[in-house]
Parts: sequence; structure tokens; C-alpha cells
Amino acid sequence: MEKRLNIILLGPPAAGKGTQSQLIEKRYAISHISTGDMFRAAIKEQTPLGKEAYQYTSTGRLVPDEVTNGLVKERLSKDDCKKGFLLDGFPRTVIQADVLQEILSSLGTSLTCCILLKADDELLIDRIASRRVCLNCGASYSIKTNKPKVENVCDCCGAELVFRNDDRPESFKVRLEDYHKKTFPLVEYYKKKGLLYEVDALLPIDEVFENISKIISSLLDR
Ligand code: AP5
Repeated sequence: MEKRLNIILLGPPAAGKGTQSQLIEKRYAISHISTGDMFRAAIKEQTPLGKEAYQYTSTGRLVPDEVTNGLVKERLSKDDCKKGFLLDGFPRTVIQADVLQEILSSLGTSLTCCILLKADDELLIDRIASRRVCLNCGASYSIKTNKPKVENVCDCCGAELVFRNDDRPESFKVRLEDYHKKTFPLVEYYKKKGLLYEVDALLPIDEVFENISKIISSLLDR
């Protein structure tokens, strides 16, 4: 039987989680679950979840754990996750990580690994100013390092590319601070479980992907 891949991609805002997730999803045919994309879709549709999430995401703060945990539990229970999944942006707190473990136990599965994308804050601030995103399919571009084929048009779905509301310097500062305070403790959390693998996120996109692929391949060979 083929080995199931249940992966967490961990890292600060703008480290490249979304960019790498698209490549991993394509190569390994696992479901990409981005809580940020889920919130942005709900905000666009103006659903009750979207209205609640907007109060937090617009200023760069984390959406409360109980809201996020419920959303992820429902998503992981869907059939397409049975072939494996890639979590991008979840968990972000120790409470979320504990809940994830409970969800996976209840589904009779477990984590394969947690891959940390490492990057300095200064570089992230520079990256965020150049980022443009597609709010339709979640694809992420850079006007410096990862340009779309046609200016301001998504290569994947043809929708218009925009500057994200929460990428403004004041919101981004809050996101970075929250990462260090609430999310960074997960590095130790997964290290203790023997599940943590680190990748240098400062390298070019294809090199970061090759390093991630090496980790995944070594785990598949075990
Ligand atoms: P979310 O969308 O998850 O935001 P994030 O974690 O801050 O991550 P980003 O999407 O900003 O960055 P990324 O790492 O995906 O980088 P990207 O690939 O785009 O969450 C948004 C909000 O939702 C949160 O602030 C919170 O409010 C809420 N939320 C989400 N999950 C939550 C949770 N679990 N609990 C509570 N609240 C939650 O790349 C960045 C840029 O760099 C791009 O321009 C890209 O082209 C470029 N780039 C990428 N890699 C490279 C490279 N190697 N070299 C050069 N350029 C690169």
C-alpha cells in the first residue's frame, strides 16, 4: 500500500508556505489545506465565518483557536484528505497543535512530518512588499522574484492579482510578532516528537522545493 503523507508546513508569514505548497501538492498529489485561503474565501463570500474572521485577519491578528480548530476538523474529515494532506498555516498555537493531534487520532491517522521554512524578519518584510496574490485560487507571486506571465493576471486561473489587505506594514508587524510569540514554540513542540525538519527559505524557490522534496522522499523510503 502507498504510504500516506500528512505534512505540516510551518514558518513565519511570507516565508513561502503558499508557494511551496502549490509545488508539493502537484508533485505528491496530496490535498493542500491553507487556513488563510479558507478565511479569505469566506471573507470574499461574506459568510458568517468570513465576517468573524475579517475582524482579526484585517489587522493581522490570529482568528480564535475555537473557530479555526472547528474549520480544520471539518476539512480534514473530507474524503480527499484520506490520500494525505499538507497543512499550510495550521497549527499556529500549541492549543491548535494539541487539537490537531486529537483530530488525527480520531481519524485513525498521524503526522508524517513538520517542515519548517526558516527566514529572517528583514527578508520577510522585503518579500511582503513585492507580493501579489490571487484571491480566486490562492496562488502567490512576487513582482521581483516570481512574476506572473502577464502583469497582474494569475497564471493558474486568469483572475486579477492584488496586494493583500493584511500585508500593509502595520498588519504585517502584528503577524510577525504573533509568529514569534505564539507559533514559534511549535518548533520545539515538533522537535520533541521527532517530527521536525528544517529548510532554508532564503534560497531560490526551486532550490527550497528540491530540499523539501529530499525530506519527503527520504520519509517515503523509510
Ligand atoms: P496566511 O494566509 O496563512 O498567512 P501567513 O502565514 O502570514 O503566510 P503568508 O500567506 O503571508 O505567506 P506564505 O508563507 O504563504 O508566503 P508566500 O508563499 O505567499 O494567514 C492569513 C491570516 O489568516 C493570519 O494572519 C490570521 O489572521 C488568519 N489565520 C490563518 N491561519 C490561522 C490559524 N491557524 N489560526 C488563527 N488564525 C489564522 O510567499 C511570500 C512572497 O515571497 C511571495 O511574493 C512569493 O512569490 C515570494 N517567495 C516565496 N518563496 C520565495 C523564495 N524562495 N525566494 C524569493 N521569493 C519567494
